Amino acid sequence: MTKPTLLAISGSLRKGSFNRMLMHEAARAFGDAEVLVADLNMPLYDGDLEESKGIPAQVQALADQISAADAVLISSPEYNKGIPGVLKNALDWVSRVPGAVLNGKPTVVVSAAAGRTGGETAQFMVLSCLTQLQVRLMPGPSVLVAAASNEFDENGNLKNELYKKTLTTRMQALRAEVVPT
Ligand SMILES: Cc1cc2nc3c(=O)[nH]c(=O)nc-3n(C[C@H](O)[C@H](O)[C@H](O)COP(=O)(O)O)c2cc1C
Repeated sequence: MTKPTLLAISGSLRKGSFNRMLMHEAARAFGDAEVLVADLNMPLYDGDLEESKGIPAQVQALADQISAADAVLISSPEYNKGIPGVLKNALDWVSRVPGAVLNGKPTVVVSAAAGRTGGETAQFMVLSCLTQLQVRLMPGPSVLVAAASNEFDENGNLKNELYKKTLTTRMQALRAEVVPT
């Protein structure tokens, strides 16, 4: 393999999202790679829409990115102690695309949130959904960035060395899984 391809997914659509910052930090920690950034802006899953029009172009684009990726990184916020709707919606749509593109895909999930637990409940829910999709979840110490508004500098870089170290451990393990040594 030359350069591995990493698909980076932020569960927040917001431009100034801390999860988007964490996603970019994780991509840097992964090292030299072709990085694809997912766009979760897509219609709400609707079985009638699926039946009448098929898989929407935005969903197919995401599924194609997943297929092209050697590894996937998801950074998710926590909304009301749960998985954000946009991320769940995207996973639901992708699960409808023929070919089970997420099946066996090496994946790391991290989270950043305003609260003191760093989105732990949401992260657990994301992991649970991905288990159903038979994603190859890479184990390791949790990256849960709490009080996220205090944790990034003006350039969007993580300030806390402990978070950086854990994130690097996780991303290097993901890299080792997909890059033959
Ligand atoms: C609808 C909604 C629900 C939220 N619920 C939680 C929550 O349950 N736990 C938490 O720590 N933060 C919660 N927050 C605050 C988010 O963690 C915070 O807005 C965070 O910055 C969102 O991630 P982002 O910066 O990537 O967009 C909530 C925010 C919104 C908009």
